[in-house]
Amino acid sequence: MKQMIIEGNNILSGNIEIGGAKNSAVALIPAAILASGESTIKNVPNISDRDALIDILELLNCNVKIKDNELTIDSTNLNNKVIDNSYSSRLRASYYFMGALLGRQKNVEIYIPGGCNIGSRPIDMHIDGFKALGVKVEIEGDKYILSADKLVGTDIYLRFQSVGATINIMLASVLAEGKTIIHNAAKEAEINNIANFLNNMGAKITGAGTDEITIIGVETLHGAEISVLPDRIEAGTYLILGALCGTNLTIKNIIPEHLESLTTKLKEMGSNLIINKDSISISKVSELKAINIKTLVYPGIPTDIGQPMSVLLTQSTGTSLFEETIWENRMGHVPSLNKMGANIQVNGMSAIIKGPTKLKGCDVIATDLRGGAALVIAGLIAEGITTITDVEHILRGYENITEKLTNVGAKIELKEI
Ligand code: EPU
Repeated sequence: MKQMIIEGNNILSGNIEIGGAKNSAVALIPAAILASGESTIKNVPNISDRDALIDILELLNCNVKIKDNELTIDSTNLNNKVIDNSYSSRLRASYYFMGALLGRQKNVEIYIPGGCNIGSRPIDMHIDGFKALGVKVEIEGDKYILSADKLVGTDIYLRFQSVGATINIMLASVLAEGKTIIHNAAKEAEINNIANFLNNMGAKITGAGTDEITIIGVETLHGAEISVLPDRIEAGTYLILGALCGTNLTIKNIIPEHLESLTTKLKEMGSNLIINKDSISISKVSELKAINIKTLVYPGIPTDIGQPMSVLLTQSTGTSLFEETIWENRMGHVPSLNKMGANIQVNGMSAIIKGPTKLKGCDVIATDLRGGAALVIAGLIAEGITTITDVEHILRGYENITEKLTNVGAKIELKEI
């Protein structure tokens, strides 16, 4: 178990290099097994979700090499095995082995995925998509047994623009017979990254990044190369930090267009931003205005940035409304923020935040990944020492977080307890 200890109230300045996007990397890694051969994924973030996926690849007899942020995966000798609970429950994205193994071998036995406790997180749209492609689905307790003689392309309508269901159906259908069209597909930037990788492998996917994706099945795929796109959520988290305690804090190696919903809101609050081609510099201003935010699917404000933003709203003058629309349980961090001195009233999936309130360091608990990131921001602007427990949640998604923050002047350390 690890603990994060933060001495707050310091000005941060300098450069933070953003890594590859977690939510793209966690799909690209399972996608690599669709080709018999060697694939290379560059700019893979060094996070514990990566390691959990590598363990699954090794269980399936793939040969994996890591060199810095580059991952080489050779799945020539793939051996399809039951992915039991001790592997699947370590992260949400283990469910991408459903689509990838169905595509490559037409059968998979896997236990339910894990992930943050941010809502009920059903996977019915993934399963319905597989069924539409001709997959037989059996559920034995916590185990899914998915099998097919062949997968045949069809029209699939998602009732919600689910990131996971869109990717999983793409993975399952690239090697299916005929044409699959995913209607009401998710449009998140990560979807494009996955489609580009699959196309580099020989797949025929068009429309990724729009709400209608067409996949023409091919017979085989070959090993290929891809680079993980920059993590817009990691970048957004550090931008928010810069708005609170930065002096020329520069967030580098990003695609500013992917952060537009956030930067628009930051400008509306009166924040001081300089947006360049692949970086944004930000400095604290004397007063930030209260605003209302509502999380939405892409290109709206991402649900994953809502919790970090709620800390910003505690420092803004006036009353802000924070509305979450994707996950039922995104307010797990609020009791800790209130313990630190914030004035946040939660009502279901919304919160009323009154500011500005001085925050004081104390002992808090990370309940989930983004809620944990919110507490790191709070700790960095608070007076005194903040100790965060259950930081494993944070390390699942933020690469080298203590090093990156120490380099720009933060006093933060990880301790084994
Ligand atoms: N949903 C269903 N049925 C399904 C799938 C989803 O009802 O079969 C519902 C969910 O309950 C939720 C909504 O649809 O209310 C959106 O779910 P989505 O499938 O889009 O989410 P996901 O694919 O499970 C990914 C990210 C999340 C991120 C969401 C939304 C990964 C591994 N996870 O989850 O990331 O919040 O998309 O952008 O890619 C995080 O990084 O902290 C995180 C939670």
